[in-house]
Amino acid sequence: RPVPVVAIDGPSASGKGTVAARVAAALGWHTLDSGAVYRALAWLALEKGVALDDPAALVALAGTARLEFRDGGVAVNGVDVGDAIRTEAVSCAASRIATLPAVRDALLALQRASRRRPGLVADGRDMGSVVFPDACVKVFLTASPEVRAERRYKQLIAKGFNANIDQLRRELAARDAQDRARAVAPLQAAPDARQLDTTAMTIDEAVATVLEWVRTAC
Ligand code: C5P
Repeated sequence: RPVPVVAIDGPSASGKGTVAARVAAALGWHTLDSGAVYRALAWLALEKGVALDDPAALVALAGTARLEFRDGGVAVNGVDVGDAIRTEAVSCAASRIATLPAVRDALLALQRASRRRPGLVADGRDMGSVVFPDACVKVFLTASPEVRAERRYKQLIAKGFNANIDQLRRELAARDAQDRARAVAPLQAAPDARQLDTTAMTIDEAVATVLEWVRTAC
């Protein structure tokens, strides 16, 4: 029997990371925060001064770097970058390199390697459509732009960063537009994905909904 995967995709700050972590904890499964994969490479490119529009250089960088994703932690060449990759500068850089097909291909095997027993909960933009097309549950998780800006604002403040809610709303909108418009693996619901609008939902309600889907489909 293949290792079961729950794929949770959706726009920035929709709550998918939080829901994915909670669902995984409830099931005792592993997690893959695929946004952190793009963020880690983007962070490294900024550190090393590698151009964000140079696919060959970025693929070479991905090939030589040790990118580790374990238990929600992120390390690049042994250095913990869990917080450093959450800045808006890195968000923006991640979204840019994510438009490059060669970069996406180079990060595919790394993401699929997270699939381990007893199961995986993966969140991102293309978990259900590209990386794990055989996922037993595919969720497309959304929330209104206002609620998403508010959630990202609280997340940044809690981590000790400065944040401006209007600026965040604009940045989220720009990043969404870029994620939706790109030619390769654009942000869109897989045809067999279940829509989950969390605008008026608590985290507990969203988690309970996904767990019920897992119970019946995985
Ligand atoms: O989810 P998160 O905001 O951390 O993702 C950062 C960026 O990485 C996104 O804006 C998107 O461009 C890219 N990404 C992607 N495919 C994924 C996950 C993230 O293209 N599966």
